[in-house]
Amino acid sequence: MIKILNIIGARPQIIKAAAISRAIKNHFQNEMEDVVLHTGQHYDDNMSQIFINELQVSKPKYNLGIGSGSHGKQTASMISGLEEIILKERPDYVFAYGDTNSTLAVSIAASKIKIPIVHIEAGLRSFNKNMPEEINRIMCDHVSTLLFSPTKTGIHNLKNEGFKVESKGPYSFNNPGVFHSGDVMYDNTVYFSKVAEQNSKILTKLKLERNNFILLTVHRDHNTDNPEKLHSIFNSIQEISTSFNVQFVIPLHPRTFKLLNLNISPDLNNKISKNSLIKIIEPVSFFDMIMLEKYSLMVFTDSGGVQKEAYFFEKPCIILRPETEWVELVESGMAIITDTNETKIKEGFQHFINSSALVFPSIFGNAKASEFICKKILENS
Ligand code: UD1
Ligand code: UDP
Repeated sequence: MIKILNIIGARPQIIKAAAISRAIKNHFQNEMEDVVLHTGQHYDDNMSQIFINELQVSKPKYNLGIGSGSHGKQTASMISGLEEIILKERPDYVFAYGDTNSTLAVSIAASKIKIPIVHIEAGLRSFNKNMPEEINRIMCDHVSTLLFSPTKTGIHNLKNEGFKVESKGPYSFNNPGVFHSGDVMYDNTVYFSKVAEQNSKILTKLKLERNNFILLTVHRDHNTDNPEKLHSIFNSIQEISTSFNVQFVIPLHPRTFKLLNLNISPDLNNKISKNSLIKIIEPVSFFDMIMLEKYSLMVFTDSGGVQKEAYFFEKPCIILRPETEWVELVESGMAIITDTNETKIKEGFQHFINSSALVFPSIFGNAKASEFICKKILENS
């Protein structure tokens, strides 16, 4: 039996860990022990516990309760808490997901005490180090023992950074293994899509007409903390909604909730609050989110995960960022990078509204990425 310490912290990590917990429960229960540790980076019920319950992530044995803070303080507290638990549990592997401060903290804590790190979502690069996530993912990749990339581009990026992608096992700190696994988020979308249909009431609750609304999410610091950019996003949707009579639904991240009043003008704020075509709501559960994605007309987002899920459900996407690490989406023509440029956002919307043939080739694997990852770990143990 090998023991893994499965580290979750931010919302998307809880969702990704659900795919691994499920693979272990269904296929590797006699070979792998799944010990979950929550750093507490996200803590509101609708950013954390709701996903643990709904997606049946193994119940966290530990919650460090770190909460919010500056990058340095938050990461330092996590490192200190993680070190203590890793030394106590002595796992065979720690799992780090994605690119958050929780990912960075695991990288430092586990690598210094020489516990092998499995990085899920390795190799992704935006090539923009102004993003805190770019720093986190580079650091994690370079101290990991097993690196699982969801895309071929991820493998290519790692090769360019000196990883020997052809290297043979046994893999170790100084001989890391690099694999193209497919995307654990795709595993989840396929698995939960039918379940969400049966459980979610969000479309009725919000009185939404299927395939006739736009789903928008925004939470990147470079958008929320920059009044000009946040204003441009909300001004664009105010104009699109009224000019084209299109409904928007916006499950808003708490970060953005807190900054919206401060960072958009009172005049725009007033118009939006009176506009029945713009529904701003609290963050929703994953099942609700699946239904909003699946039955949207189009998605506008700066989220990494939501960009991909739009693609999984064959919805065109306006990416409210200057670049993306999910370059395949843009290459397919089914997503357009607009950043917060109002003209580009409107042109992107019109482009997709007028496109009759939208084609979404398979890019993200066969919905068995989590099983593949577990098998590779067992092979290396
Ligand atoms: C973090 C990740 C980001 C990821 C996102 C997913 C980092 C550096 N960023 O961004 O990569 O895309 O999670 O959602 O790790 N807050 C609450 N309640 C919560 C959590 C946060 O109110 O449960 C508010 C707090 O005001 C907090 C702010 O959101 O200061 C930001 O939270 P934080 O975890 O630092 O970063 P995110 O913006 O959520
Ligand atoms: N998500 C959700 N409810 C919401 C918003 C997002 O369940 O109200 C899910 C979404 O479906 C995806 C993940 O959260 O699986 C993406 O997380 P987020 O946008 O917070 O972070 P990112 O992917 O950008 O790191």
